[in-house]
Amino acid sequence: PVREVYEEDIGFNYIYDEDSGVGKSCLAHRFVQDSFNSRAESTIGAAFLTRVIVVDDTQFKLQIWDTAGQEKYRSLAPMYYRGAQAAIIAYDITQASSFQTLRYWIDELHKQGPADIVLAISGNKSDMKDQRKIATHIGKAEADAVNGIFMETSAKNDENIKELFDEICRRMP
Ligand code: GTP
Ligand code: MG
Repeated sequence: PVREVYEEDIGFNYIYDEDSGVGKSCLAHRFVQDSFNSRAESTIGAAFLTRVIVVDDTQFKLQIWDTAGQEKYRSLAPMYYRGAQAAIIAYDITQASSFQTLRYWIDELHKQGPADIVLAISGNKSDMKDQRKIATHIGKAEADAVNGIFMETSAKNDENIKELFDEICRRMP
């Protein structure tokens, strides 16, 4: 049986967040365009992307805000997460400082974000395991503590990205 869902009913917004350079834009581009740019430029302000996917016979139109991670853009973040149904907070498994920033965003979304927002945490650059600084179970514990989705992803190798978005769709009310 196909449950019909009209695109207007879905209206997702996503925010990717934490440190600059953890790969938010690359994750978004891998998901939307199935491409990877190894010399991606740091995002200024935010970028908007969309993709329609079908998960468990339901169609979802994802409207994704790819936000800027540089600290000078932090004050813009509420504009993007205020109306969001889900947020992906990304860190870089090879960069310990990005894990500290992850905690900042979890806290921020808890205090200021929509009460029913679906949270997902992505430990990105899983292809760089030899330079890993954050163990998988440490990342997962952070997600479990907020009842969030956790996946280690690689935008470069296309690992767990479609799975991450599928899981977010499954948690939509
Ligand atoms: P801001 O827009 O500044 O917040 O950065 P961002 O989080 O959007 O990072 P971006 O996607 O621009 O990627 C930063 C750098 O990390 C780029 O050089 C990418 O090529 C690289 N990168 C992104 N994802 C991956 C990945 O999964 N694996 C590896 N090895 N490199 C990645
Ligand atoms: Mg970016």
